[in-house]
Amino acid sequence: MADFTALRIKPQRFKADFETLAAIGSTEDGGVDRPSLSEAHLAARAWFRQRAARDGLTVAVDSAGNHSAVLPAVALDTPHLLLGSHLDSVPHGGRFDGALGVAAALEVLSTIKDAGLQLPISLEAIDFTDEEGTLVGLLGSAALVGRLTPGEIQSPRGGRQSLLAGLQRAALSEEGLFLARRDPASLAGYIELHIEQGPRLARSQTPVGVVTAIVGIASYRLIFHGRANHAGTTPMNERHDAGLGAASFMLAAHRLVVESFPDCTVNTGLLQLEPGAYNIIPGQANLALEFRSADDKEFEQLENALLALARQQADQFGLEFEANFLNRHAPAPMSVSMQQAIGQAAHCLELGYQAMPSGAGHDGQNLAHVCPAGMIFIPSQDGISHSPREFSAWQDCINGANLLLQSALAFTFEHYRP
Ligand code: GLV
Ligand code: MN
Ligand code: MN
Repeated sequence: MADFTALRIKPQRFKADFETLAAIGSTEDGGVDRPSLSEAHLAARAWFRQRAARDGLTVAVDSAGNHSAVLPAVALDTPHLLLGSHLDSVPHGGRFDGALGVAAALEVLSTIKDAGLQLPISLEAIDFTDEEGTLVGLLGSAALVGRLTPGEIQSPRGGRQSLLAGLQRAALSEEGLFLARRDPASLAGYIELHIEQGPRLARSQTPVGVVTAIVGIASYRLIFHGRANHAGTTPMNERHDAGLGAASFMLAAHRLVVESFPDCTVNTGLLQLEPGAYNIIPGQANLALEFRSADDKEFEQLENALLALARQQADQFGLEFEANFLNRHAPAPMSVSMQQAIGQAAHCLELGYQAMPSGAGHDGQNLAHVCPAGMIFIPSQDGISHSPREFSAWQDCINGANLLLQSALAFTFEHYRP
């Protein structure tokens, strides 16, 4: 076998791809707005197909809309090592989240193809559908590993109508989502390059992170039912103000996590008061609740504690309370063999690295159920993400792409000798 450790990606081609993607759905403040299955997202996917075909990669789109570019092995029916991320963004997000990993995966395949390196397994660059959860969250990867549940698409985080409209725009169907499952034996593994989205690597001036585990994430729609009434004539001590229940819960949930679950996070990212007028006491408050933990047991304790707290706050303001479960992605440890391959490749590239958990959700937490999964992080300037201000230095992006390349090769030759 030729010495593959000297192989490097082509930075100019990689940068051109990254910049082309950044222009699709770009916003004036330097970010991108490409919610899942929006016109801008579909345009980014059209670019993916054309980019992959340009370099002679085989393009495939599955019934969940996952987009793949394949560099096939010579032998038939070999398993696929997946390298990927996502081209959708949060509303008014940044240019790096997801797009970096997809551009890097394509670049890795093109680099290996250009070098004429024959691999014992096929390599597949993949762009997963709806990673960000503007519709469901980790949708394409859940479909691919066979973990999508009917409940998740009946009451998705982003609303049922948005999901149906998105599927229609992309010429996908609900039934199709359940037909995208792949046989685990066809999956050799999964590696994703991503920005850290937090401040740790930048603060410690470490070029790369090797992810040890991905946090579990659960979401609920909480509804506080009060009584709409006149804002001026109802005495202050006789109100059933649904907004107060929600607001009080938001503060109490923050305090609970800081004081009792210091390794966890909670977020209440969307609050709607109904009917919603200056002169009406809110009769109903709908609150989007999301919480995260990297530990299974603590995840469950946190869930129980938050729901009990919401009920208690509702009682305090004389409100009825409803908690509608939306979805849950379990915490997922990354495979030891993948962490070793990434560590070995980082050593070979002379990149200092740090082992770290991911506080953000990623498709790897679904893939981890069926094959060895691993992730590489690069520093995020000031730890900012899900914002147009998201930024990573270009040299860090190049380091990450080379590490993705070398990790894929190290894993392949360690586990599938030609
Ligand atoms: C995805 O980026 C998430 O962690 O919400
Ligand atoms: Mn992402
Ligand atoms: Mn994201």
